[in-house]
This record gives sequence, structure tokens and C-alpha cells, in this order.
Amino acid sequence: MTTLKKPSQTITSETIDTLNRRVSIREFSEDPLYDDTVVTILNAARRTSTSSNTQSYSFVVVRDPQSKQKLAHLAGNQQYIETCPVFVAVCADLYRLAHAAQMHGADLAINLELSMVAIVDAAIAGQSAALAAESLGLGTVMIGGMRNHPHEVAEVLGLPRGVFVVYGLCMGWYETRPPARKPRLPEESVIHFEHYLPVDHATLTDYDQQLAAHYRKEGRKTSDAAWTEVIAQKFGKFNREHLRGFLEDWGYVLD
Ligand SMILES: Cc1cc2nc3c(=O)[nH]c(=O)nc-3n(C[C@H](O)[C@H](O)[C@H](O)COP(=O)(O)O)c2cc1C
Repeated sequence: MTTLKKPSQTITSETIDTLNRRVSIREFSEDPLYDDTVVTILNAARRTSTSSNTQSYSFVVVRDPQSKQKLAHLAGNQQYIETCPVFVAVCADLYRLAHAAQMHGADLAINLELSMVAIVDAAIAGQSAALAAESLGLGTVMIGGMRNHPHEVAEVLGLPRGVFVVYGLCMGWYETRPPARKPRLPEESVIHFEHYLPVDHATLTDYDQQLAAHYRKEGRKTSDAAWTEVIAQKFGKFNREHLRGFLEDWGYVLD
């Protein structure tokens, strides 16, 4: 096995610092977030790598208080969707591709792969938008709750068949100190060199304790098994079982 010596100096950059500092922000100030700033962020995100240059995603910028109120409700009453100045719906978009194909007499051959293309494209473009926003000092939180009621969300945003919200992104300035960063799983259980090393019980128990200590410091109730128990409870049952039906109705094919 080849090993490379670590450089003695700390490696960093503004981007790495931004990533290392970030936490999800759910409380926003009333400072305005101007369209120029939002469009600059989203245009930077549009430089993200995209599968076969399909650019199979769209952003819908939502400021209208009534729309945000409806979306907050549809996401399970997540109030910060209402209180953030700008909510960006990050959408997978097969509608535009279908249009392009039809210009040449072809029907889009949608299968699991093409559906994944659009979903991955949207996910990574949205992450670029979040990073660009955070690099300007804005706070963000992603909202998977957009998939709770995807038909209703599509109606609020006027999305045609083929376009659906993969997740939303609340954006805004914040006044109060950001919350403490949530500890992550240990590096060695996530970053592997050459061969995957399966995680062991002790590593996860250790992480459970770190996360529990973090939650208690933040004044949140938690069990000692702060991570594993939540994973068991939340993902030991099926979630959002309506999603396959919605996606198939909306032009996506998952087989
Ligand atoms: C795709 C995605 C969807 C998410 N959905 C929600 C959500 O609906 N509501 C919420 O409060 N946080 C949501 N989050 C934020 C995560 O809960 C958060 O990133 C995670 O707990 C780690 O915390 P941190 O971002 O502060 O480090 C989402 C994150 C991602 C990546």
C-alpha cells in the first residue's frame, strides 16, 4: 500500500473554512435578502457539474408569504419556511428534457437511471447553492419535508408534470449566534482508503454519547443512544410511502 506523508502545515481555504463552520440555521433575522444576492447564489450553483450536461434541475425562488405559509404547513409546520426571507425549492426537472427530446420527435426514455440523473443533479446543485449562500454569511437549512405532500407542493409552485421538489432550502441572514456544530460520525467510519472498513458497535456507541452530550448542552432532550436509537425509530419503518406513487404519476420511472 502506498502511503503519503501528511503536510506539516494545516491545509485550508475559504471554502473549506465555510464548510467546516456550517450548521443548519433555523432562525432568521428580518434583514432583507435582495434578489441580486439570491440570483448571484443560484447562478454560481448553476456552474455545478451536471450529468451529461442535462442540467435537469430547476430552482423556484419563493418570497410570497402566503406560499411560504402553505409550504411550511405542507412540510409538517416547519415555521422557518415562513420566517426565512427566501425559500428555494430545489427541483428535479425532466419536463425540460422531455421538451428538448420532442423537438426531435423523440419521447424521453425515462427509467430509474434517468430519474436518478435528475434527482442527483438537483441535489448537488442545491448543495452548491447552500454553500454559495453560506460563503456570503447567510444561514440555510434544507427541507426534505417538501416530499411530505408532493402533489400539493407542486400545485403551490405551479410545477408541471416532470418537475418535483427534491428538497427546499431556507435562506436568510441570522442575528443570534449560530447553534453549536453537531458532531459528526468519526472520520474513520466514513472515509475509507482503498477498502471499506465496516463500522463496529463501539464506534457507534461512542458517537451516540458524543451526540447525546451535544444535545444536552443545547438543552435538548435525548436518550443516551442519541444517534442509533433515532435511526432505529425513524428508519426502522417505511417513510413517505406515497412517494413512489407520486413520482410515477409525475412522469418518473423507478424500475
Ligand atoms: C436533504 C435534506 C433534507 C433535510 N430536511 C430537513 C427538514 O425537513 N427540516 C429540518 O429542520 N432539517 C432538515 N435537514 C437538516 C438536517 O436535519 C441537518 O443537516 C442534520 O441534522 C445535521 O445538522 P447540521 O446541518 O446542523 O450539521 C435536511 C437536510 C438534508 C440534507
